[in-house]
Amino acid sequence: MSAPSAGNQRPWDFIVVTDHELIKRMSLTGPNSLPAKNAPVVILITGDTGRERYKDYWPVDCAAATENMLLEITRLGLGAVWLGVHPVVDRKEYLRNLFLLPSTVHPFAMISLGYAETDMKKERESRYDESRVHYNHWE
Ligand SMILES: Cc1cc2nc3c(=O)[nH]c(=O)nc-3n(C[C@H](O)[C@H](O)[C@H](O)COP(=O)(O)O)c2cc1C
Repeated sequence: MSAPSAGNQRPWDFIVVTDHELIKRMSLTGPNSLPAKNAPVVILITGDTGRERYKDYWPVDCAAATENMLLEITRLGLGAVWLGVHPVVDRKEYLRNLFLLPSTVHPFAMISLGYAETDMKKERESRYDESRVHYNHWE
């Protein structure tokens, strides 16, 4: 909830799900969410267009909040994965029906989290690519 958002509009809500039966149903949102079926916690991030002061920015705001959550989850020594929902219409509809969301509330993404099987602290290869940073000019 500390994430930056357009005009500080904070369009997000978070549904924290610990109920195993409900998590199983969430894992059927799409083929990408199947690995969530055994997670102890899945968080659904939603954006409310009713709170939007700057049109069409809600997914950008929700992405910032999602990334912040991933950073904090990692800092806590847990593992998490971003499961894409928006802009895939059938995934959004499935979750809207599952949680009986009001019409202005749009499912954005799910975060599946728990204790990671792999060592999250392991050094990873740097992806930094100098050629993708442009100073003053594109060329
Ligand atoms: C918009 C978005 C949607 C994503 N959806 C999925 C997904 O459905 N399933 C998944 O396993 N990872 C998903 N990811 C995670 C990416 O696959 C992952 O960030 C990328 O492969 C890089 O790996 P890393 O984050 O572990 O460095 C998503 C990431 C973003 C930003």
